[in-house]
Amino acid sequence: MICSVVGARPNFMKMAPVVLEAKRRGMPHMFVHTGQHYDAAMSTVFFDELKMPRPDTYLGVGSGSHAEQTARVMIAFERVCVEHRPRLVIVAGDVNSTLACALAAVKLDIPVAHVEAGLRSFDRTMPEEYNRLLTDHIADLLFTSEPSGSVNLRNEGIAAERIHFVGNCMIDSLRAHLASAVERKPWKQMNLEPGTYGLLTVHRPAMVDDAVKLEQLRKVLREIGGSVPLLFPLHPRTRKRIETLGHDWSPVKLVDPLGYLDFLGLMAKARIVLTDSGGIQEETTALGVPCATLRDNTERPVTVEMGTNRLAGTKPEQILPVVSAMLAGHNSHGRVPDLWDGHAAVRVVDTIEQWMGR
Ligand code: UD1
Repeated sequence: MICSVVGARPNFMKMAPVVLEAKRRGMPHMFVHTGQHYDAAMSTVFFDELKMPRPDTYLGVGSGSHAEQTARVMIAFERVCVEHRPRLVIVAGDVNSTLACALAAVKLDIPVAHVEAGLRSFDRTMPEEYNRLLTDHIADLLFTSEPSGSVNLRNEGIAAERIHFVGNCMIDSLRAHLASAVERKPWKQMNLEPGTYGLLTVHRPAMVDDAVKLEQLRKVLREIGGSVPLLFPLHPRTRKRIETLGHDWSPVKLVDPLGYLDFLGLMAKARIVLTDSGGIQEETTALGVPCATLRDNTERPVTVEMGTNRLAGTKPEQILPVVSAMLAGHNSHGRVPDLWDGHAAVRVVDTIEQWMGR
């Protein structure tokens, strides 16, 4: 039996195609949700919309400090591994659940496969960078989504035979659901016209937990919002911070977190996307929609080198010129990277079957 694990929102769209492909082939399979994200809007809606089976086991770990959350996942997932002894544990991405489950498994001598391996921001202030590094160095099968992932792993001394460039599983989900997402016309309920608005997401602690940075961001967004309508679905962390500070964000329109389909539909018809997320940099590149990333670095360089992503920094004086140039149509075209073709999960499961000698 193989065991796939999800924990937080960005895991769902990466793991859904793998879980569905394993099921389609009739592989004995167990599906675990750690419960790192637990709200309906952060979790349940994605299972429904991505047509994922319900988890066989829900660990219900919830929020906490990094050590608390990681430790709770390890303790709960170790029990699952001891009881069921999977032949392989599959984890995705870079959240605390990813590292915690990988570490619990390998200590029981259960091999681990990592989907979206090798990405590096080279920024050790990001908690995700540690999750990525440590997970990769204990995993047996490393599935990379872009060439830089394979290069980074080789540079870190990981054996070539463990590295498999399969493409981007999250883009499998995008390709499977894009038509139905656009058909919903989610911009209508937001009173927006397709092709005219900006879509915004910000949730990284480095940005929202720092009152000075958040205040700078508010000012810059209000200014951009004067020339293009801006829609800002709020991650729970961001909502808490904005409510605590109690400042005026108008004309930026603040709304609750959106489901996968509404967000994808809105993204597909946006004039520009502004984000500090990882996955959205890739989704906009796949859609050919200009994306200004509100960070100084990216672990997904192919989106800048080939796609529509531009690093806009975190300071107003950096962000404004980049966004203005993009709105003027400069330097915002791109190509879709290799193997972002909707079939990455097929290659993942092919490789796993070969590895298992099935
Ligand atoms: C996590 C990931 C991050 C990813 C993000 C996507 C880590 C280290 N970080 O950050 O890489 O980009 O998910 O969303 O794993 N909360 C709720 N309801 C929920 C989930 C969270 O209200 O369903 C609140 C909690 O109060 C919590 C806060 O959001 O304290 C942060 O949640 P947490 O899972 O700790 O990290 P994220 O900031 O979401």
